[in-house]
Amino acid sequence: MRKPMLAGNWKMNKTRDEAISFCLGVSGKLPLDVECVVCAPAIILRDLVKRAPSNLAVGAQNMDYHDSGAFTGEISPIMLKDTAVSYVILGHSERRAYYNETDETVNLKVKKALEYDLKPIVCVGEVLEERESNKTNEVLKRQVLKAFEGVEIANPADVVVAYEPVWAIGTGKNASSDMAEDACKYIRDVLRTIYADKADEIRILYGGSVKPVNIKEYMSKPNVDGALVGGASLQADSFVELCNYQK
Ligand code: PGA
Repeated sequence: MRKPMLAGNWKMNKTRDEAISFCLGVSGKLPLDVECVVCAPAIILRDLVKRAPSNLAVGAQNMDYHDSGAFTGEISPIMLKDTAVSYVILGHSERRAYYNETDETVNLKVKKALEYDLKPIVCVGEVLEERESNKTNEVLKRQVLKAFEGVEIANPADVVVAYEPVWAIGTGKNASSDMAEDACKYIRDVLRTIYADKADEIRILYGGSVKPVNIKEYMSKPNVDGALVGGASLQADSFVELCNYQK
């Protein structure tokens, strides 16, 4: 009942021309039964929305939680809405590590995104020391409860959580599919304490060194509804292969 999702996170990569070539490269090759998304740098979003094939949704990688104002360098939800993007990644571990993103600001951003009908992809995940000291669930519980504190969800299918263990991001050391399943199931259980049965409609992705060679294994797990992919989403061929994991 949950539509599988494959979301690329381009991070700080690709010029406008490179993004347009990507669109040409994936055109006609993406499946209809998987929701395919690319989250791109803000400056190329408008061109990407125009050029993306109809079954490729576009997302941003961050946004501010104010509507407008004296926040130099920031992008507001109103601007994203005006650009016609569908998704926005919130609380990615790189934002938490390098730009002071906290559970509190993630919570404010989730509320703002939903206020403007932007679909949030909320990232959570433990660092290596937390996993090694058996604190993974404790960390996930704190991050999820805080991110969704006071958040009313009208359409659970429009809310996405990404479990991204920080030690697996960009390292080539992907979590095993069992680890991913355990964490995604745990996240769903935490969501159930807030949203009851609606938790079964919220999609939970795994992210961290997902590649065409390992995607199928993750997708075979009952609580893993898709993947958030960095490096392997940059090339059109690799993205097409990821999205077509069922073939
Ligand atoms: P990666 O990045 O696939 O390059 O590990 C994942 C992410 O940061 O979302």
